[in-house]
Amino acid sequence: MTYNTILTETRGRVGIVTLNRPKAMNAFNLVMLGEVFDALESLDKDENINAIIVTGNEKAFAAGADIKEMAEASYVQMLTEERVQVWDRIRGIRKPVIAAVSGWALGGGCEFALSCDMIIASESAKFGQPEITIGVIPGAGGTQRLARLVGKHLAMEMVINNRTLTAQEALQFGIANRLVPVEGYLDAAVAFADEIASRAPLAVRMAKDSVNAAFETTLTEGLAVEKRNFYPLFATEDQKEGMRAFVEKRKADWKGK
Ligand code: CAA
Repeated sequence: MTYNTILTETRGRVGIVTLNRPKAMNAFNLVMLGEVFDALESLDKDENINAIIVTGNEKAFAAGADIKEMAEASYVQMLTEERVQVWDRIRGIRKPVIAAVSGWALGGGCEFALSCDMIIASESAKFGQPEITIGVIPGAGGTQRLARLVGKHLAMEMVINNRTLTAQEALQFGIANRLVPVEGYLDAAVAFADEIASRAPLAVRMAKDSVNAAFETTLTEGLAVEKRNFYPLFATEDQKEGMRAFVEKRKADWKGK
């Protein structure tokens, strides 16, 4: 599949999607949105891939939705075009998705990173929701995901008053998993993803589903989801292999079965 606004590559069991509209700070236009989710869904189906990275360039992960494309849009267009609805497709990706963020992650760019499962941030990363400065609010999950992640007061400040977080603050507030130097930030993210990709794939899938349930359910319902995901793993070859390998003091050889 040929894409116009993104690049794709694989490194071992890690698939990489690179946002590639550098002249527009990787702003998401409709074409890029379609291509990104198409690439993510292809990698999710690819049995040779166990983890996925989404990245931009050193200067910009993504500066949000394409303001120029959306500036004159009507209410009906916004309602009917796949401009914000399409973002829900990221929730359907079953493999772990890691955002490797350098430079600006603003508006929809920040929301995209927050929609991923983990974030590796370069020291130049900056996270913010500046929609208020252009007369709107986040429309791709920012108000909800930020409030759940950093709490009400900081989320309010970011959304209502355009507070931008430095990479160090993103680490401090639990947005970023790791802070790495700008130079080689993608390699660092690949090393991080590679470790995840080396783990039992079905257990990783169940783990992701279970942790995500914590944001959707009561504790009682969430604990039930966890058990529903725990028991079936005893029907997998990898559970037998993993536990036997522990007993036999050797490295497990995962089959993803
Ligand atoms: N949409 C369209 N074009 C954008 C863009 C965006 N979100 N962000 C940057 N660009 C374009 C600029 O217009 C400029 O293009 P030209 O060279 O043709 O003028 C080019 O990218 C470079 O940008 P700057 O000259 O502004 O670069 P800078 O280094 O001075 O500033 C920046 C970088 C801080 C990211 C600044 O560009 C900026 O503030 N961008 C807008 C951020 C924003 O408001 N994002 C929210 C969008 S709305 C949204 O995302 C809604 C949602 O919830 C889904």
